[in-house]
Amino acid sequence: MAAKIIDGKQVAANMRERIKADVAALREQGIVPGLGVVLVGDDPASRSYVTAKERACEEAGIYSDDNRLPAETSQEDLLALIERMNADPAISGILVQLPLPPHIDEQAVLPAISPAKDVDGFHPVNLGNLMAGRECFLPCTPHGILQLLIESGVEVSGAHVVVVGRSNIVGKPVANMLLQKREGANATVTICHTGTRNMAHFTKQADILIVAAGRPNTVTAEMVKDGAVVIDVGVNRVSDDSRKTGYRLVGDVDFETVSAKAALITPVPGGVGPMTITMLLWNTVEAARKAGVKTLVK
Ligand code: GUN
Repeated sequence: MAAKIIDGKQVAANMRERIKADVAALREQGIVPGLGVVLVGDDPASRSYVTAKERACEEAGIYSDDNRLPAETSQEDLLALIERMNADPAISGILVQLPLPPHIDEQAVLPAISPAKDVDGFHPVNLGNLMAGRECFLPCTPHGILQLLIESGVEVSGAHVVVVGRSNIVGKPVANMLLQKREGANATVTICHTGTRNMAHFTKQADILIVAAGRPNTVTAEMVKDGAVVIDVGVNRVSDDSRKTGYRLVGDVDFETVSAKAALITPVPGGVGPMTITMLLWNTVEAARKAGVKTLVK
């Protein structure tokens, strides 16, 4: 039977309406949520993500401070910009788009962002709190995945979740979030990665399969159990001469064959992607609410 599609675009649109209303209420109190956005270099995919994030801010009534820096920007200059944004009361949250150019050390940059403005949830303090099950900014893509599971009525407690991919942005945090003993989580979690022998042995056991490997066709139908819930986090550009852009987007899952076997599946595009941006808006509003700084901005 064909899988039901999890419509991330629709779930995101509903959440963004609620966020927009929250922003309007905060503005009434003189609090204007603001997001400082930093993009170093001109990677086309990163540029389009950052543009989408800024557009979403504008639609929600969140002020965004756009900083597009040349690829040769020094680490020192980037750290100085972050320091300025940390001190700026008009900036509630800071987003430094990853990956950074190779001459900049991500592990020096992310800890420089104030934990109170770390709306990506990548600061070691927030990651530590996440592991310990304490309140923190949740990383946006994992948080979006949890929201999709909740909205789709998927029973996570007691389920076997298999995560494919161990990135700091998705794999590790989503695994940690799902194993917490709380509502919407409490799963048994297995993480597979490039060092895993016989990955299909594990993926076939998944009630919920989350794939964030960064490679098309990482998961094919024979690797999936009948009736599984499949969350595809991949966003890969593959060349397609029939498109004006010369490419199309595909996930990490072979959608055509896997959707014939799964019970529920996210499409690419239109699944996890819109949720990532939505959770960024959510965190930015939370950061502004907590800071409670009255500004006269914008
Ligand atoms: N690059 C890919 N995903 C993300 C994300 O969620 N946040 C940031 N800052 N960079 C990314």
